Amino acid sequence: MAKVSETQALRDASLRYLWMHNRDWTQMAEEGEPLVITEGKGIRVKDSEGKTWIDVNGGYTSVNAGYGRTEIAGAAYEQAMKTVFAPVGTTTEPVVRLAAKVAELAPGSLNRVFLVSGGSEANETAIKIARAYQRRRGEPGRYKIISRRGSYHGMTGGVLFTGGGPANPRADFEPVYPGMLYAPQPNPYRCEMGGTTPSECAVRCAQAVEDLILENGPKTIAAFIGEPVAVPQGAAVPGDEYWPMIRQICDKYGVLLIDDEVICGFGRTGKWFGNQHWNIVPDIMSVAKGIVSSYLPVAATVVKDEIAEYFSERDATLSHVFTNAGHPVTAAAALKNIEIIEKENLVQNAAEVGAYLKEQLTGLKVDHPIVGDVRGLGCFAALDLVSNKETKTGFKPEDKMAQRMTDKLRKRGLLLRSRGDMLHMGPPLCITRDDVDDIVHAIDVSLWELEGEMGIARTT
Ligand SMILES: Cc1ncc(COP(=O)(O)O)c(C=O)c1O
Repeated sequence: MAKVSETQALRDASLRYLWMHNRDWTQMAEEGEPLVITEGKGIRVKDSEGKTWIDVNGGYTSVNAGYGRTEIAGAAYEQAMKTVFAPVGTTTEPVVRLAAKVAELAPGSLNRVFLVSGGSEANETAIKIARAYQRRRGEPGRYKIISRRGSYHGMTGGVLFTGGGPANPRADFEPVYPGMLYAPQPNPYRCEMGGTTPSECAVRCAQAVEDLILENGPKTIAAFIGEPVAVPQGAAVPGDEYWPMIRQICDKYGVLLIDDEVICGFGRTGKWFGNQHWNIVPDIMSVAKGIVSSYLPVAATVVKDEIAEYFSERDATLSHVFTNAGHPVTAAAALKNIEIIEKENLVQNAAEVGAYLKEQLTGLKVDHPIVGDVRGLGCFAALDLVSNKETKTGFKPEDKMAQRMTDKLRKRGLLLRSRGDMLHMGPPLCITRDDVDDIVHAIDVSLWELEGEMGIARTT
């Protein structure tokens, strides 16, 4: 364990040299950040001063198998000792085996696997394939991409202007690229289309996609992209009508359906892939995070055979390459990670313990005047905090809800992502019921404390 003075030296160096994701170093310095993590096991991590924390968000909702899986490190080491890379135009055994494994797990004819290094790259690849496919089938006018407001598909150039919302400001990078169209998000709690039930919201939001296609002209639309359950909206689960309707609308107008499974994939929602909750097979599926539980950078774009066929001939090759994509060491790690998920039935555990988590969180909604909504699926959940349950009004920015909740939760040993008025949870899938009790108790007490400070009366 590093001594406190060593930790301070590391912290100072990080504030001087490191550009951390979505953070500014002035505020971090004021708050005594960042924590320096030294080890982890299951859903818990330890910092350099010896304190243990529950990582309620499992890294970036990504450490699906949990921390401390030395078998994954072992598999990566073994492969690295054989060869860390391969010459251009060749491949390696783990890379081939990973592609075959992903194809085996993916539904329908999603069998052609383009390996990349992260979720943004997977979605970039999906959009490029969709546009190139439309050209190859003789429809070069189809370049527009429909995404949903409040969705997130990554930070790189091509996907930056898909989705969008206050959680991911992007004014610095405008103008928006041509051909970006936006549809409503089927969030039943705050339905943009005025739906008052999940079902009504789902139907209206799906219908809005069809309207958008017709308004713009079907022959201009290449693809629709969406996450089965979207994270910036706080794990908002759409009504059951939504995805089957979207599938049908895409088919009707020759629009490809890109399913962003970067968060939902590999067991997060209690099934291997989020789309399996609604029995739909997308045309292209992006996977990342859980494929390797963030042990190393690997991700993939998985394409239906019928679409991939258009790229199978010499003069039809897709011009697309990333130096480190399809890396043998990352592939070996991913294979071991998937083996662990299968052997330990972590998908089933995510469904069962995730249901328990939601049930316990729902109890908080009854007790706490500021818990407006509890939602989620499997090990993917969120609390929507409101100042008024009737009107579903959030808090004023000066109330600094997210920061105050984060501080209170930290006091109780929880690392949890609180953004805007939302608490996001995506723990490792090896979570137990006892872990859930620890988490929910800490949230409960923190909420009481916050409500007390704000002078908000209890409802029970
Ligand atoms: C649904 C979704 N898509 C894409 C991405 C981007 O993935 P990455 O950060 O690996 O580029 C994320 C990241 O959080 C995500 O949640």
